[in-house]
Amino acid sequence: MGLIAGTTRVREDAPARPTPSGGARRFEEDTVADKPTVALGIDIGGSGVKGAPVDLVKGELIEERYKIATPQPSTPEAVADVVGRIAESFFDTLPADAPIGVTIPGIVKRGIVKTAANIDKQWMNCNGEQLFSERLGRHVHLVNDADAAGVAELRYGAAKGQDGLVILATLGTGIGIALMYDGVLIPNAELGHIELNGHDAETRAAASAKEREGLSYEKWATERLQPYFSHLEFILAPDLFVVGGGVSRKAHKFLPLLKLETPIIPAKLLNGAGIIGAAALAAD
Ligand code: BGC
Repeated sequence: MGLIAGTTRVREDAPARPTPSGGARRFEEDTVADKPTVALGIDIGGSGVKGAPVDLVKGELIEERYKIATPQPSTPEAVADVVGRIAESFFDTLPADAPIGVTIPGIVKRGIVKTAANIDKQWMNCNGEQLFSERLGRHVHLVNDADAAGVAELRYGAAKGQDGLVILATLGTGIGIALMYDGVLIPNAELGHIELNGHDAETRAAASAKEREGLSYEKWATERLQPYFSHLEFILAPDLFVVGGGVSRKAHKFLPLLKLETPIIPAKLLNGAGIIGAAALAAD
């Protein structure tokens, strides 16, 4: 059926015009007027759960982040309680309709956690989105932690405005990977777990392996990170690598040692990346 809108005749059933990136929105173009400008982000990490309201225009935390130690064991109920306490601490100042995003170190499909490499095994197949939403009495959007960090770096940080394939790698307890092509996130890319020389790559190349085995930056870079990033470079031909995780503060000690054709740069948002990305994805 047609409609008369002003003097222009438009078809109700006309298909939306595809965008240059094949119909999907580009993240760095997302600061449009009809979108929320504030959202709450909460990042669940191995040692701490951290949250803060985020200014989505600037990509900055609006208030100081509130951190509570990750409960041990990190069961869904125990973590939900901590997430609830952090969120509630901002409810006085947070707009009532502000979106809420939470990260988790595992695959997330339609709110359900599908892997639990470095968190309590009870997370497997747990509907984390529903659990958190019920605890908070507000809708919560759950995302993979590396995906959140990747989106934050792409929109506001080290990879801002970068076209082509950007690979963010967070080096921490495990290795988290975010794949973004022309600004579009391809979620849940678990490339930290590729098999390399007979090992799950993250067990040899994550920052935790460096600590556990007492490796120097040089040994870690040349013997562990080099084969890992060379392999990613070979199979994916990226345009840019961004390296995040706490150890990226010391990036000058190991990134210059890597021999790659692809530029490799440290993340910018450091501690804030997960919080900012979770908030940004919740508002999409
Ligand atoms: C998990 C990923 C996560 C990464 C970083 C890996 O062990 O499988 O989902 O992004 O650790 O936390």
